[in-house]
Formats: sequence, C-alpha cells, structure tokens
Amino acid sequence: MIPLARPVLGAAEEEAVLEVLRSGQLSLGPRVPAFETAFAARLGVSHASAVSSGTAGLHLALRAVGVGEGNEVVTSPFSFVASANAILYERARPVFADIDAVTLNLDPQAAEAAINNRTSAILPVHIFGYPADLPALEALGLPIVEDACEALGARHADGVPVGGRGHPAAFGFYANKQLTTGEGGMVTTGSQAIKESMDSERNQGRAPDMGWLDHDRLGFNYRLSDIACAIGLAQLDRLDELLAGRARVARAYREALTPLALERGLELPCEDHGGAERGWFVWVVQLPREIVRDDAILALRELGVQSKPYLPAIHLMSFYRERFGHREGEFPVCEDVAARSIALPFFPEMTEAEVALVAEAMEKITEL
Ligand SMILES: Cc1ncc(COP(=O)(O)O)c(C=O)c1O
Repeated sequence: MIPLARPVLGAAEEEAVLEVLRSGQLSLGPRVPAFETAFAARLGVSHASAVSSGTAGLHLALRAVGVGEGNEVVTSPFSFVASANAILYERARPVFADIDAVTLNLDPQAAEAAINNRTSAILPVHIFGYPADLPALEALGLPIVEDACEALGARHADGVPVGGRGHPAAFGFYANKQLTTGEGGMVTTGSQAIKESMDSERNQGRAPDMGWLDHDRLGFNYRLSDIACAIGLAQLDRLDELLAGRARVARAYREALTPLALERGLELPCEDHGGAERGWFVWVVQLPREIVRDDAILALRELGVQSKPYLPAIHLMSFYRERFGHREGEFPVCEDVAARSIALPFFPEMTEAEVALVAEAMEKITEL
C-alpha cells in the first residue's frame, strides 16, 4: 500500500536527538532559540517563537493581536478545523467567507463582505501550500494572523516568503509537513511585542526576567522541547532538498494525471501563477462530479493506493452546524470543492514508479 505521507528522517536527526539526551537539558534549553533564529532567518523575518503545535501557535497569535470574547474573525471554511477552533478558544466567532475556485484560498472580496464592526482580525489559510492573496487582504486594514501550517517554502507574488510579511504566521511540524518535529510549530512575526507576548504565554505567563514560579498573566504550556527543536534544526538544514523532492513528485503527478484532467474532468491543483509559488504539501485532486468519492477511495485502496477526503468544509461539521446553525449552500465554492477532493500519496521520496502506480489506479477509477 502506498501511504499518504512518509517523513524523511536520517542520521542527522538521530545524532541531533542523541546530543540533546546526552546534554541532559531536554527542555527550555539552547536548541529552542537556535531553532527560532534559524527559522526566522530562513524566512527573512525578525522573530520566531517555537510552540508545541501549529494550533497552539494560532491560539497565541490570535491572543497577541488582541482577539477576544465577542469579536469576530473572518476566515476560510476550507481548512483543517484547527484554524477555526483557535478562534473559538478565545470565545470569538469564526465568520466564514467563501474561497476562490482556483487557489482554494479565502476570496478577498468575500472576506471584505463579511467584515462588520465586531471584526477584529482576518485569518487567511495558505491551503495546500498555495499563498493566499495577502496584498488584497492587507488592503482591508485589519490585523492578520496567517495559518501557514501547510505552506513552508511558499512565496508570494511579490517575492516575500509566506510567513515573512510581518503578520504573525503559524507553521505546523506534524509528521506529514514539509519540515517535521513529530509534533510542533513556529510562529513568525515582525513584531518584538508579539514575540514577547507569545513567549510568555507559551510558558504559563512568565516574563523572561521572572523567576521559576512567577507569573504575571494567564498562560499555557505550549512549549516545544529541545528534543523537538534539535530535530527541527536538522530538518531545516535539509529543507531545500525536502522541498525539491516534493516539487519533483508534484511535477511527476502533473505529467501523469494531465491526460485524465483533459479527457475525464479530473481537476488538478492549480499551477503557480502571477509570480506566486506553492510550497508543496499535499497532492489533492477534485474528482469529476459523476464519481462517488467513497467508492473511489475504496477502489483505490484495493489497487494499493491510500487516499482520503481532504478537506471537509468546516462549517458543515456537526459541531459547527449545531453551534452556529450553518447549513448547505452558504459557501457554494467551498462545498463543491470539499465534496469532491481527495488527497493522494505525496512525500519527498516517492518514486516515479509509485506515482505511475497511483496514476494507473486513478485511470481505472475514472473509467466511465
Ligand atoms: C491548515 C492547517 N491549520 C492548522 C493545522 C494545525 O497544526 P497542528 O496539527 O500542528 O496543531 C494544520 C495541521 O494539520 C493545518 O493543516
């Protein structure tokens, strides 16, 4: 069975972990600032804060820009549920706006229409690693928190790396991500004050000059361990190679599946356009409307190919329906895409033969 994802970890990561174990300093040690500094430098941004997950990063970033009870945050319904949940953690309300049919990112016009006097921030998601239209969202004049969990290595049309614009941008390091620490995350920011707020709140609300059990505000335990940061540093050293591997597999998929796009209506991820560059994270296709997705997933499994529906629309999840009364038809572009999307196996070391096998399986399941 070809799996959906497989991390690339080797001798460098093993050695890095062993060094931390031998040092005896497993947490709150030197690897944390070292990883933060290296990550920020890579993205050309002044600050970065390592956190225990992408979700934790989104939560701290929303708090740092002042999102609180009774506020609204405009965001995409086509995302992993964490981007909307993080807004709810602060008793604010996620207000969804429909997506662009090509990039699958928050549509700036729809976002603008969703803004009112309770809106305190916009939370765009760079979905599947394709950069959201930040310049258009910046023009709306509200604080922005970026969900860059899927977008390490992406670049905006103006050449700025995703996460390098200065807004707090949360990255995730779960095992399927471009860079992994097992679990973990990082928030980049151009603001010293936001960095200080996040560093304190990830560590139970302790300021850097305070003693061990001294806390001057509400905080959390959202720290990332030195073991995880050491893995992150080793992964960062080989990030170019990891991203190049993903880009190679993406090219192979495009070549292999283009005939099915032309002849059978399979929709492929959009190509880079207007100068923007995707940081490849997943290979997600939209099935032709006449194909029943659950049947397709089962048939692919029988042919040795793992796949999954990716992503379901957040507003149609039972919790969001019950809490906010959402219903079908509210965000038609998102709903159409979400109903037809499947993620296919995608990882840096995937071979041409594995891509060919997936393409053959896709050909069989799209035969009419
Ligand atoms: C778009 C998006 N947002 C948020 C997250 C949450 O990241 P984490 O699992 O590290 O908390 C993910 C991770 O899968 C994601 O894909």
